[in-house]
Amino acid sequence: MMEGPATHDNSTMSLADVTFSSIPKVDTSLYNLSSEEAVFFKAQTGIDDDEDLKKHILEIQAKAYEARDNSVTISTYPEYEHILKLGRERPDAVLLDIGCCFGVDARRAAADGFPAKNIIASDILNDFLELSHELFKTTPASYPGYHLPGDVFDPGFLSIAALSNDIPPAPAIDLSSLKSLNPLHGRISAINATRFFHLFTEDKQLHLAKALAGLLSAQPGSVICGNHVGNLEKGVVIAHILGSEHRLFSHSPQTWTSLWDGEVFEKGTVKVETELVEVAIQEVQFLVMRWSVMRL
Ligand SMILES: C[S@@+](CC[C@H](N)C(=O)[O-])C[C@H]1O[C@@H](n2cnc3c(N)ncnc32)[C@H](O)[C@@H]1O
Repeated sequence: MMEGPATHDNSTMSLADVTFSSIPKVDTSLYNLSSEEAVFFKAQTGIDDDEDLKKHILEIQAKAYEARDNSVTISTYPEYEHILKLGRERPDAVLLDIGCCFGVDARRAAADGFPAKNIIASDILNDFLELSHELFKTTPASYPGYHLPGDVFDPGFLSIAALSNDIPPAPAIDLSSLKSLNPLHGRISAINATRFFHLFTEDKQLHLAKALAGLLSAQPGSVICGNHVGNLEKGVVIAHILGSEHRLFSHSPQTWTSLWDGEVFEKGTVKVETELVEVAIQEVQFLVMRWSVMRL
């Protein structure tokens, strides 16, 4: 997310410090569903006409003007088939879509066969979770997946748990009774954290990584995956987006790997994969790091 080359300084500000009012209202030029995404949204919403679908999606975006992206991302990850397999084969495997906004990735996984009753979509803003139903033309009664609002930095919602190699026995938790993520410590099979970590400072990214690690099941193959702004060397990337300057703390593939393998998890107990990809949005170039952390 940079105009020209990335620049670094020692600031600890991040996009999380930017007030929503400084972010421009919905920009219709950002509507660019891929043909695969269009097929997905048409199947999910029952809207077949391209113009009607565009109008519907832009109407929902306009209601949540700070959320301008409806991309389906989880299905582009190399771990996606593995996640779907966990949903099919591991009894009561739970998938958590954290910082989910409208929960588009959660809906995609449900559409592709991960049992929706075992999917939790969570965001700090309950409005986004409610708009998810409007976007997908569902209700809490018609869609069996769960929406759980909460702040990942509120220990009452998500505390950092000591890591354990124990695999909690059945019976599974009744997801419908959840008020926080804490009862799921050590019980989640797959976590999707797409476009999430870069909202936060370096310290908070470490806190979040530890908190999510505490949710992950110790069963081999349990996985956390995501993407966010990255860089060749760790530091603050100054990004000029739609006329505003944002400072994003970004890990490099090396520092991100050693954070998970050695700092968050005991070294050698996870496999970390990373890939830096150059992406252009609105003619602004930036590096995105796609990553996964799998329990061995
Ligand atoms: C950039 S969006 C990414 C949304 C979605 N994962 C995607 O890829 O389209 C980041 C989301 O994180 C949510 N968020 C920000 N701070 C949060 C927090 N402290 N706890 C939980 N969610 C948070 C925002 O409300 C927003 O929906």
